[in-house]
Amino acid sequence: MQARHRAFWLVSALVPLLASPAIAQPGPYLAEKPVTARHAMVVTVHRLATDAGVRILREGGNAIDAAVAVGFALEVVYPIAGNLGGGGFMLIHFANGKNTFLDYRERAPLAATPNMYLNAKGNVIPGASLYGYRAIGVPGSVAGLVYAEKKYGRLGLEKVMQPAIQLASHGFRLSAITAAQFHDSRLSNYPASFRKYQRNGNYYRAGDLFRQPRLAATLRTIAADPSDFYHGPMARQIAAFIQKGGGIITAKDLAEYKVVERTPVYGAFHGYTIVSAPPPSSGGIVLIEALNILNGYNLRKLGDRTPAEMHLLIEAYRRAFMDRNAYLGDPAYVKMPIAAMLSQKYADAWRASILPWKATPSKDLHRPAGFLPPPPTMSQVRHESPDTTHYSIIDSQGNAVSVTTTLNDYFGSRVTVAGLGFLLNDEMDDFASKQGVPNMFGLIQGPANSIAPGKRPLSSMTPTIVLRNGKVSYVLGSPGGSRIITTVANIFLSSAIQGLNIQASVDAPRFHMQDLPDVVYVEPGFLPATLASLRKRGYHVKVQPPWSDGECIAVDPKTGELEGGHDFRIGLGSAAGY
Ligand code: DON
Repeated sequence: MQARHRAFWLVSALVPLLASPAIAQPGPYLAEKPVTARHAMVVTVHRLATDAGVRILREGGNAIDAAVAVGFALEVVYPIAGNLGGGGFMLIHFANGKNTFLDYRERAPLAATPNMYLNAKGNVIPGASLYGYRAIGVPGSVAGLVYAEKKYGRLGLEKVMQPAIQLASHGFRLSAITAAQFHDSRLSNYPASFRKYQRNGNYYRAGDLFRQPRLAATLRTIAADPSDFYHGPMARQIAAFIQKGGGIITAKDLAEYKVVERTPVYGAFHGYTIVSAPPPSSGGIVLIEALNILNGYNLRKLGDRTPAEMHLLIEAYRRAFMDRNAYLGDPAYVKMPIAAMLSQKYADAWRASILPWKATPSKDLHRPAGFLPPPPTMSQVRHESPDTTHYSIIDSQGNAVSVTTTLNDYFGSRVTVAGLGFLLNDEMDDFASKQGVPNMFGLIQGPANSIAPGKRPLSSMTPTIVLRNGKVSYVLGSPGGSRIITTVANIFLSSAIQGLNIQASVDAPRFHMQDLPDVVYVEPGFLPATLASLRKRGYHVKVQPPWSDGECIAVDPKTGELEGGHDFRIGLGSAAGY
């Protein structure tokens, strides 16, 4: 955290002590102000990507054009998560009131098997689903961005890819932050990654010009003929390269990859309509289920991040995550009781189990009877033959786009495709490699999310658009693995219910609970008294370094002004508009 933010939290932590014992809400005079604009706004994790989006909007593009431009630009300027070799979700709200959701999540290769990450004794091989050629899922990002541009963009692929192509071929100056990210020791294990990001050991430094001629050539090929990536020479090159390294992705895997356009999930909360990510993301369902549970409380009266308020949020998150881990997976493979999970009656029953002052230990948690069928078991699941980034955009016509895209871990599998200049994901780790064994995010998941050929791993990415009277109020999202969902919920509640501006909501210290492990994770910045009070209620509280990266927009309900809140935690991002 930057010094001014540390100071901000220190002061805001002390003021409530003097003013009122109950309210830990920073006064508006202390809060960082959002960036404001009248017509259009782009918020991303990297200033150059934000600029790419704004440039496309100014050239007459709509929010979808800008989103595609940002998506390709992030591959160039933020390779830790921006990607051609990963996957993502794009949620779109059109000015005419319609919403749609593009799923370009990675798929398991056709040769994947449920036990592919287990050794002969049946134990998970550490790192097998995380690093190297076998951890890679079939990438969907190029298909998704191309699909979005063709169907909903205005300017055409060649034009919206220009900023990315220029950034790759002309280069850009590396910040100290990005240069430090390139020191990742695992990148050194893969020759093309070692060459590209670490100059064969002659590491880049802040201020160096970073040019990516191979990537520029790849981007030019995609702009001229996007089918090359999945059906042409590039597809064959990618497949041959992965197989040579010991991976199992084939040209057929790439040829069969398809974007799926889905109906988003919907929720209602205090006059807002929540539009969010459906399976294969768990994000929207967990978010809406948690908000449904919270619907019965007056959170505003309790105050932002007071122990009493946090207690209710934590218990709601615990219950919604319990359902996530048991029921959710790829809808093509698992039957899910989504309508029942999202029903207010079910949430009301869950709420009745929340104790007024005490934590419910996860091991004692019992799902209310009579609402959901038993969770799927292995035999019912069909077997058909930390990194991510989020960006939010609103254009001058009232279209809004919320995109979360990922390589999964930082730099994904760490494997760069030789000759093509881009990294490949390690999304296979989002599956449950073994029932009951936690993945990278500590998620303990059931058979609904077991590995199967062609299946999409369950995600927590939660691109969300919140409407009020049919108009956009918020565009929200973040990376952070399972913590994405609570990050989005916390930002939304802090702003919509507690009245913090969007920048202050993004800045506010985060807290997270995912049922298992039975731990409440908190960022630095909470009052010691708040943490003591949570511990007294029976919570296992663990302070951890800052996480996630909320890149969000709010719309002032009175003036219609757009307010961009970007996250200072990473230190590269910006909100900009006009
Ligand atoms: O889809 C998911 O839920 C994960 N692959 C997201 C990973 C992530 O957010 C890592 N970021 N810090």
